[in-house]
Formats: sequence, C-alpha cells, structure tokens
Amino acid sequence: MERENWASKLGFMLAAMGSAVGLGNIWRFSYVVGENGGGAFLILYLASVLVIGVPLLLAEVSIGRKAQSDVVGSFQKLAPGKPWFLAGFFGVVASFLILGFYSVVAGWSMYYFWNYLTGELFAVPSEGYGFIFDSFITSVYQPLFWHGLFMIFTIFIVLTGVKKGIEFANKLFMPALAILLLLLAGYSLSLDGAMEGVRFLFQPDWSVLDDPSVYIAALGQAFFSLSLGVGTMMTYGSYLSKQHRLPGATVGIGIMDTFFAIISGIVIFPAVFAFQIQPDSGPGLVFIILPDIFAQMPFGGLVGILFFLSLTLAAISSSISLLEVPVAYFIRVKKWSRKFASIVTGSIMFALGIAASLGMGGLSHITPIGDYNIMDSMDFVASNILLPFGGLAMALFIGWHFTKQQAFEATDLTNSAFRNIWYLLIRYIVPVLIIIIFLNTLEII
Ligand code: PFF
Repeated sequence: MERENWASKLGFMLAAMGSAVGLGNIWRFSYVVGENGGGAFLILYLASVLVIGVPLLLAEVSIGRKAQSDVVGSFQKLAPGKPWFLAGFFGVVASFLILGFYSVVAGWSMYYFWNYLTGELFAVPSEGYGFIFDSFITSVYQPLFWHGLFMIFTIFIVLTGVKKGIEFANKLFMPALAILLLLLAGYSLSLDGAMEGVRFLFQPDWSVLDDPSVYIAALGQAFFSLSLGVGTMMTYGSYLSKQHRLPGATVGIGIMDTFFAIISGIVIFPAVFAFQIQPDSGPGLVFIILPDIFAQMPFGGLVGILFFLSLTLAAISSSISLLEVPVAYFIRVKKWSRKFASIVTGSIMFALGIAASLGMGGLSHITPIGDYNIMDSMDFVASNILLPFGGLAMALFIGWHFTKQQAFEATDLTNSAFRNIWYLLIRYIVPVLIIIIFLNTLEII
C-alpha cells in the first residue's frame, strides 16, 4: 500500500506541534515542577530541552524522513542486519505504556469538560474541588467510561488516515488552547498572593539539585513533552517528502512546546499559592487548581468549558501521534489495514489503561516501582527510562552510524552555520549527558 504524505510542511509542523503540546505541558509539567521544587528544576528542564531535546528532535525527524518508514522499519532500512532496530521496539513498547495512562488522564479532562458543560462544577462544592477530584478518580466505572470514550475518539481519528484525520484535527485546536492559556495566565497573576507562585516558578532554590532524582525527572519531562524517543516524531517525519527543510521546523516545535509549558506554569503556580495548596500535591494539581480559578473569575464557567475542551483536544492531537507509532509498524509488518491496526492496538492500550485507572483507587496498594502506583510506574518506566534510552539510540545512530556528511544531508544542515555545533551535541554531548543521568538514576532505584 502507498504510504501517505502530509499535504504540506505546515501540515507536518502542526501535527508535530500537536503531538508535542498536550497534557504533558499542562498536567504533567505543573505537577512535576511542583514535586521537584520549582525554579531550579525549571532551569534544568529548559537546559534539557535546549541541549538534548531540540537537537534530538531534528535527529529523530530526519531519520524518519530519510527512511520513509515506521520506528522499527526506519532503523532496519538504514542499517540492515544491525541491532539498531531494537531501539524501535522500545519505542513501540513505550507508546503502549504512555497511551495506556495518557488516555486515562485525558478521560479525566473530558469528564471535567462535560461537568462544566452541565454547570456541575461552576461553583465551589462544599467539600472542595480536591474532594470531588479524588472521589472521581478513585471510583471504578466513571473514569473507565471516559478513558474508553477518549480512546474511541483517538482510534477513530487514526483510522481515518494521516491527512484527513490527524492534520485537520491539529489545525483547529492549538490556537484555541494558546489563547485560553494566555487569558488565564493574566488572571492568575492578578490574584492576591500570586507573586509567591511566580517566585516558586522562576527563583531557583539550588538545594533541590542535591537530589539525584531531579535530573532524571527533568530529562524525562523534556522527552515526554517533546514526544521524543518513542518514534512518534520519526513516524511523522516519515510522512514528509524530501523537499521540506527540517531545522527551522524542529526549533519551532521546541519553542512552541516550551511556550505552552511556561504559560501553564504561570497559570498554575500563582493560583497554587493564592489558594494555599501544596505545590507538590501530585497529579491532581491542575484538576484541583483550575476549577478554583474558574470559580473566582467572571465568566469562569464558560472559561472552564473552553479550557477543558481545548485540553482534551490537545490531548487527542498527542494521543493520535502515540497510536500512530504501533499502527504504522503493524500496517507494514503484518499487512493489517489501518482500520484493523488502529482498533487492535487502541484496544490493548485501553486495557493497559484500565489497570492505571483502577490503580488510583481499588488497586492503589499495587506499587510496581517504589511507592509509585500503577499509573506512576508506567509513566516512570516509559518517560524516565524507555524514552531517554530511545533518544540515546537515535543520537548514537545519527552521530556514529551515519557519516558526518550523511548526518548533515539527512537533517538539511549541510549549509547551516549551526551544523558543527549540532553535530558536536548529537555525537558526544547528548549521549554522554543521557548516560550520566541514567547512571545517576541507578542510585535511586
Ligand atoms: N508530548 C505529549 C504531551 O506533552 O502531552 C505526550 C507524548 C506524545 C509523549 C507522544 C510521547 C509521545 F511519543
């Protein structure tokens, strides 16, 4: 079967940005920053994006575009008979783990959207939003229903194909989210006590860096947020034709992704301090804080509707990119139709998500890693181990398996002033940093 292509480079850019910008920028970013002490972590995160993330993003997209194949096939095609393709399998496994729990959280977001639509969440409930959130996520059926519904949407978009489904969905929803976040940031900054939150986010307390787990958390967040190391960007790159130039596109994606993360930090943390909530209260942070903000502001109910709608849609544009990884693989290897591949893989991810969802309540005693529940464990393995490992393999592949000339050609850097610095990063600095951070992590697990 003929592989599809993006209609335009803009189509690719939007889809790749859609993949990058999602729950990771808002939900995950804010609670991870909160748990890791704020400003110093933010600086580590930004450094990871700049030094490791963006150079790797260019590498990953380039490998896909050159090979015109899925994450396993790309390595096989460019290095036949060599073991590089094993990294592709890690990516496929990571996509299952991530979308499994991602879809559960996206389901929470849909549930909030629905409850804003019906007016249920407009006014602060007598038990507080924290209680409402906890009783929802710890219940059995409701979160599963929304998780399932979200997965159905994701499957539906992926099975309609690259151009019609994925490209179209992205063009609509990203701008809406950006506008809402800016509006909310302005409001949040005007709250009494907002400055304390701004200080938490931007004023580094270096002592948090004594803890080795902070480094892997920053690296993992950078990978997660930029959709790196799974093969999503490689797969999306494989739908690009050769005449498009990549370096500008990847820098643009990095900037956009970081913009969304920082703006959501400016939305969340001033409010966290204004409402006197603990910044390290974990994955529920945005689901508790945002309703509090909405309840205070004029037209908050309407903002709530729009916000959770955009968040859900941002999540969909990321979840489709995750589903696309195994779908592209199975279409090629098993000759499955796109429809069949989407339904089968999406259903397996749904099943994994059931465990993640039940792990918030009835199965919370199951802690596969340390004191992490099922969802946190899936996230930890994927984001902090599989993705950096995948990224390491990609950096080594393009830095050492390719010749210098091939690397420049693949990335369109041949005539760029930045080519040598990129090459230095991808060949030496990125691999060394990832390995050091890994070794550092071994101490904590
Ligand atoms: N980058 C997405 C987000 O920040 O929400 C999540 C994600 C998508 C992670 C695709 C990994 C991936 F391959």
